[in-house]
Amino acid sequence: MALIDIIAGARPNFMKVASIVDALKEAQNLGNQMRWRLVHTGQHYDWHMSAAFFEELGIPEPDINLGVGSGTQAEQTAGIMVRYERLLMEQPSDLCLVVGDVNSTMACAIVARKCRIEVAHVEGGLRSRDWSMPEEINRVVTDSITSWFFTTSESANENLRGEGVEPERIFFVGNTMIDSLLKHRVRFRRPAVWREAGLVARGYLVLTLHRPGNVDDPRQLAARLDAITGAARGLPVVFPVHPRTAGTLAEIGRSWPGLVCTPPLSYLEFNFLVEQALGVLTDSGGVTEETTVLNVPCLTLRDNTERPETVALGTNELVGTDPARIPPVLGRLLAGQWKRGTLPPLWDGKAGQRIVEKLSCVLKGQG
Ligand code: UD1
Repeated sequence: MALIDIIAGARPNFMKVASIVDALKEAQNLGNQMRWRLVHTGQHYDWHMSAAFFEELGIPEPDINLGVGSGTQAEQTAGIMVRYERLLMEQPSDLCLVVGDVNSTMACAIVARKCRIEVAHVEGGLRSRDWSMPEEINRVVTDSITSWFFTTSESANENLRGEGVEPERIFFVGNTMIDSLLKHRVRFRRPAVWREAGLVARGYLVLTLHRPGNVDDPRQLAARLDAITGAARGLPVVFPVHPRTAGTLAEIGRSWPGLVCTPPLSYLEFNFLVEQALGVLTDSGGVTEETTVLNVPCLTLRDNTERPETVALGTNELVGTDPARIPPVLGRLLAGQWKRGTLPPLWDGKAGQRIVEKLSCVLKGQG
């Protein structure tokens, strides 16, 4: 029986694989004998960034942890490749399923393909056309060697068709990250910061920043935080700080009035805060999808997005990276002038099931 590797490496991967693992278990219970193993590359390893998500989302312990840890782009990518190749040489699999756009996604896809193992990419076809982002490189390299694409949006389908991918290899299935969001919504949990900072529903903003372009330069990060806290008119801005950002903040060595910094929050706690917030400011792609579904206004502090449906249909607006552009947009939000969003097609909680159905056909050679 064919063996599927499910690759997870960094925080935004975990909620995506959770729904696929759920669907695989469901299929097994119905007698569809699919064999799979969960491979954690170890790209994210802190409890806050990794184990907390496994616990909360009920993801089984990884069968294999490659334990790569931190490093430069090349060190991390190379470390994952060496370790995954060793695994495949010792215990080969038949299909490598990767999700998203992190270094682990690209590294494992390259290794699998060179070992003549077919690659399936969940969230294939997204394009920001911004080559300064490591994620864009990861997406394009991964998709160039992917056999089967599981896509979240019509724009991803168009991108792939435009790059010459045959329609038979593209499966428009919806969004596994949204599967997890809808499944766990009833379990969202008030974090400690709620009481500590005296938060009330719609009475605060949530901020996340982690992209190198936004957080690596101390002066630019400080300018962004000046602009945001200055325009927030006294509303608390809750800022769960990513490890990369924490390093730069420590270097700056000052605080901002109204800025409530916390360690990275767990999935259920973070989404509780998002659901109750007046609005969210972020440079994350995944958060723009979650705010669209939770119908919470979202200001994206980037110049582009690989998820245009969150802007065209959802609650997201591209504000850009220039701090001067933040106050007028935040002003509009505080004045209650924000668009209402609608749900993108197939973001209905069933993407994992669709993926497993298709995988089953692919493995039987039925495409
Ligand atoms: C990675 C992904 C990005 C994703 C983000 C979510 C790539 C290219 N980028 O970026 O797409 O949105 O994760 O978090 O794969 N660190 C810790 N503990 C951890 C993990 C990381 O302290 O558990 C530190 C690392 O040592 C490093 C920094 O955080 O200094 C960045 O980690 P890294 O995995 O290199 O990339 P991210 O910026 O997290």
